[in-house]
Amino acid sequence: MTGKAASVSDYRALAKARLPRFLFEYLDGGSYDEVTLRRNVEDLQSVALRQRVLRDVSEIDLSTELFGKSWAMPVGLGPVGLSGFYARRGEVQAAKAAAAANIPLALSTLSACSIAEVARAAPPWFQLYIVKDRGFVSAMIERAREAGCGALLLTVDLAVPGTRYRDYRSGLSGSIRGKASRFRQVAARPGWAWDVAVHGRPLTFGNLEPLLGAGAALEDLMGWVGANFDASVSWADVEWVRAQWKGPLIIKGILDPDDARAAASSGADGVVVSNHGGRQLDGVSSTARALPAVSDAIAGRSKIFADGGVRSGLDVVRMLGLGADFVLLGRAWAYALAARGEAGVAHVLKLIEAEMKVAMALTGVTRIEQIDEQILDRSGNQATF
Ligand SMILES: Cc1cc2nc3c(=O)[nH]c(=O)nc-3n(C[C@H](O)[C@H](O)[C@H](O)COP(=O)(O)O)c2cc1C
Repeated sequence: MTGKAASVSDYRALAKARLPRFLFEYLDGGSYDEVTLRRNVEDLQSVALRQRVLRDVSEIDLSTELFGKSWAMPVGLGPVGLSGFYARRGEVQAAKAAAAANIPLALSTLSACSIAEVARAAPPWFQLYIVKDRGFVSAMIERAREAGCGALLLTVDLAVPGTRYRDYRSGLSGSIRGKASRFRQVAARPGWAWDVAVHGRPLTFGNLEPLLGAGAALEDLMGWVGANFDASVSWADVEWVRAQWKGPLIIKGILDPDDARAAASSGADGVVVSNHGGRQLDGVSSTARALPAVSDAIAGRSKIFADGGVRSGLDVVRMLGLGADFVLLGRAWAYALAARGEAGVAHVLKLIEAEMKVAMALTGVTRIEQIDEQILDRSGNQATF
């Protein structure tokens, strides 16, 4: 395709053309046979909206309150690891685009730029993994506090890593020939190599420097993830984090209503209904299907975030109709970052905003708090869940 992008799928095509193959496959792919990855997108798109007419929708207001702050829309940039490999100092560029649009960015633990580097542009929310070295986890919480992070997302669906076949095929994981293969893939993308590999250095893991050292490379990260993610993690660890973090705490990776109830009782302020974008247990339900039951279980006790398969403003409105209070983008913003950096992310947010306005106008609502299951078509002619 040419340089114009009118949708997230256009940005995906641009990202594919710009990134070395191993990075595009890491960003685009899911685990095992990618059944859940596809379900996330397809189930969400199959949620039918209910067209309503003649309701004066001349003034549409997308603003929303969350954690004592007013945001431009109930949309945030969710944590996407390695973003600083997709574009030059990518997390800083994303943070600037999010701040300009008055929406939050949740910075991944596994980012190229450290929390402090990103916070100099705009303090992000911070996404935390609990790893075996609990001293490191405590130090990260402290650094997030010092940097002024407005919320902590504790990701709990990675007790063990799911296998992503594409990463083996591309040379990112596992293969001894991987490094040579990646070098060839970089050589085939000179635009990316000049912009990111040359001018975007250091291409390391800012938050992991205390553990991996300053010059850690991609394979060090992959090895570290495999060796340090902690399968013993439990609700006691959530309590332990809660005791150290006084700000809003959001538990990311909830699909089951019983887990949602436990999360609400744990003192967390919110949950993210998420299956990690189909990158962990392949075969689990799409988030669109899981969301209504979670919402029934904890609405009013806890803020409900949702992610997975959101590729447009129509999808955001669908998630809100299914019971979410706030929606996180994943690949949607990362494709745009890879394609066009900060300007790409800003553009995707404009597209999402415009698409949300159309979806709200034509379902007959003008404010976010008016969106509920009434905007969905439950006539039974479409997929019912
Ligand atoms: C390349 C990539 C890296 C990710 N890294 C993280 C991460 O570091 N921490 C985390 O909690 N979730 C991570 N996720 C999951 C996202 O936060 C989110 O749950 C998922 O991307 C939503 O699905 P979607 O991309 O289809 O919208 C990652 C997702 C992708 C695609």
